[in-house]
Amino acid sequence: MALILDGRALSEKIRGELREEVEELKGRFGRAPTLAVVLVGNDPASEIYVRNKVKACEKVGISSIDRRFPADITQEELNSVVKELNENPEVDGIIVQLPLPEHLSCREVINYISPEKDVDGFHPVNVGKCMLGLYDQGLMPCTPAGVMKFFEAYNIPLKGKNAVMVGHSNIVGKPLANMLLNANATVSVCHVYTEDLSHYTRYADILCVATGVPHLIKADMVKEGAVVIDIGISRVNGKIVGDVDFDAVKEKASAITPVPGGVGPMTITMLLYNTVKAFKMRMGI
Ligand code: GUN
Repeated sequence: MALILDGRALSEKIRGELREEVEELKGRFGRAPTLAVVLVGNDPASEIYVRNKVKACEKVGISSIDRRFPADITQEELNSVVKELNENPEVDGIIVQLPLPEHLSCREVINYISPEKDVDGFHPVNVGKCMLGLYDQGLMPCTPAGVMKFFEAYNIPLKGKNAVMVGHSNIVGKPLANMLLNANATVSVCHVYTEDLSHYTRYADILCVATGVPHLIKADMVKEGAVVIDIGISRVNGKIVGDVDFDAVKEKASAITPVPGGVGPMTITMLLYNTVKAFKMRMGI
């Protein structure tokens, strides 16, 4: 039976440290770090995500600005909203909740966000710093950064290990593969077009999965003693499940993240972490 990597407990610990740091920063600089959240349209899932982000900010003392716009906002209008937030000296972090309505380009709006305020870590400048391992000089994407915190907190070695990343999204798969490579793991990246997925996954000492395909990874695809990180989240018959068949795989893995309660809470925690980091970088400390 695997060690369960507890994302709720790890989040609580990090959020507690952030709460103390925010208190100290408020005393020193006269205001709290501030996150601006931009929501376009009324996608119910996005509404919930945004509400959770704002609530999590409040709990650690981070101020938030909630900017909502109708689904028919134009690209130019949205770009100018971002420009105004870039120029607002009291805003430290900006996120534009994705997905956007079809007529809007998320790449264009992300490119508009000032890299120093890009707390999602999606701007090409931050993507480049991630690839180069210049973590201290930029803002790293929240989910991959949260996964790396698990390895650190549980003393899971990466150097020389076979790490397999299943999923090659810009938000998770590509940056996490880079972070694992920067930690000197031997990294394979698999995706929806990979032939014979289990050929790769069976060799993984570290198996990270971010596909959104419920229970894609079965026990016979996992090496005995592997560390399994499940970054998927889907709802199946009203139940929240990950990309890994948790009940079967936990009998074979040495450590595994559950869904829910694994990587999920760490994503928001790292958004808070990035907002505090952006504030400090802007204050020159
Ligand atoms: N939609 C789903 N996940 C994310 C995220 O991490 N950031 C933003 N901005 N939108 C999202």
